[in-house]
Amino acid sequence: MAEKLENPPQTENSVTPPSQYLPPCAIVLFGATGDLTRRKLIPAFFSLYRQNQLPKQMVILAFARKTKTDDTFRNDLYEALQEFAPDLATDLTGWSAFEQHLFYLQSQLDDPEGYLRLNQQLLEMDKSHQLQGNRLFYLATPPELFIPVIRRIKGAGLSQIPSPGGPWTRIVVEKPFGFDLPSSQELDRELKNVFAEEQIFRIDHYLGKETVQNILALRFANRLFELMWSQQHIDNVQITVAETLGMEGRAAYFDTVGILRDMGQNHALQILSLIAMEPPVNLQADAIRDEKVKVLHSIRPIQVHEVTKYTTRARYTAGRIGDVEVVGYRDEPGVRPNSATETYAALMLSIDNWRWAGVPFYVRVGKRLPKRYTGVSIVLKNIPDVLYARLDCADVESNVLTLRIQPNEGVSLRMSAKEPGPGILIKPVEMDFAYQETFGKPIPDAYQRLLVDAIAGDPSLFARGDEVEAAWRLITPILNNWTASSVGLCEYPAGAWGPPITDKDSQFRTLQWINP
Ligand code: BG6
Repeated sequence: MAEKLENPPQTENSVTPPSQYLPPCAIVLFGATGDLTRRKLIPAFFSLYRQNQLPKQMVILAFARKTKTDDTFRNDLYEALQEFAPDLATDLTGWSAFEQHLFYLQSQLDDPEGYLRLNQQLLEMDKSHQLQGNRLFYLATPPELFIPVIRRIKGAGLSQIPSPGGPWTRIVVEKPFGFDLPSSQELDRELKNVFAEEQIFRIDHYLGKETVQNILALRFANRLFELMWSQQHIDNVQITVAETLGMEGRAAYFDTVGILRDMGQNHALQILSLIAMEPPVNLQADAIRDEKVKVLHSIRPIQVHEVTKYTTRARYTAGRIGDVEVVGYRDEPGVRPNSATETYAALMLSIDNWRWAGVPFYVRVGKRLPKRYTGVSIVLKNIPDVLYARLDCADVESNVLTLRIQPNEGVSLRMSAKEPGPGILIKPVEMDFAYQETFGKPIPDAYQRLLVDAIAGDPSLFARGDEVEAAWRLITPILNNWTASSVGLCEYPAGAWGPPITDKDSQFRTLQWINP
């Protein structure tokens, strides 16, 4: 029986327990020699460690294919830290203490015998490090290994049925969660063969971003916005997830998936559901996820004959990002020369419910766009055609509420104001709130929050199975239609905001995107 932790102060709506209440545990990183561990996980773990936000009794045990010892693994990770988080790497004393928690176990990921050794090592570590039998498995492998690893975990008896007060086992699954609806359903079935839903933590790291969490605070900790949050006042909603990056060594993966799977099915749709959901009954994980999934179920499916009208896809050709000349997508190392993969996608989605009927939700995701920018613009209906709207000297534009998810995190409101002086000159002005200025401290990386929540057992910022399935249900027919139909793949030069739209049916032909 695990030693009981002192209960953190809880109220009905408190979401995450403070980190000093985190339970001891072993974190097993499957595929720990890959990019994700080096770029994201280790900097996040080390940063949490320095802030005293990890359990005192904790080991991070890598389970991976390459031959390494604890020491060579630790040294490799320190090199990765120097590369990806150089500021953190200057804390040598901190690192020397942290690396004592890192261990390496070499095995092929499909070798049952390796999992027996893993079990043995965990049992020993439970004793040597007082881990109380708690385990957090983290699938950071290439996606084709997810199912084999899950099966081997079961085969070696490593999954425990949770019992109140007893040791726990959880599994964190990185994206991509499947390739389409059938494959995501298969992955879900395999997981649920071994784990209960409350043990499964499906990562969408956008949910860990402070500014994505702030969508709910903005909506439900203010009266002001909720008053206008419906088809009565809103003309359209625009969601942009834009990157300047190209392939950065990930072409082999990206070329098989494309941007709609990579960032649309998950990050953009998660943002959309938070923007469009109804108020939850409380702030607990399931109450929030119940409302999000309802939004996904209310989105009108795009039919085969509507694909050209409501979607656009394109790939970048050679161009410039700032002052730097970059090659076209097909010339990126690792991309198939005859690739038909999209690097830009735009969708117009309609939410068929009382609140949103008639309000288009425009979503665009893309690589090699002019700026790194993720944001949501809520465009209000214009004022009626009377009074100021009739004056030639009044430059009256619609109000726009913009949530800057990243970078320069903040919220701004475009309004009309009278310019001081004689006559009536009306100009658009901006009211702005910037996180950095107001709170004066850096925004933590999303992975830090997600790792703490997974250890604490709080699934609020992870996607539930039915949410992921609903998102695939929506996206899969679009992907299938793109492959099957004659809808052309357009082109845009790197550094442009997507392709020119010439198709007369397209809903994007006359759309004025709000660009940062
Ligand atoms: C990942 C995608 O999920 O998100 C990447 O696979 C993308 O292609 C990344 O670059 C963007 O994350 P962030 O946090 O930098 O916006």
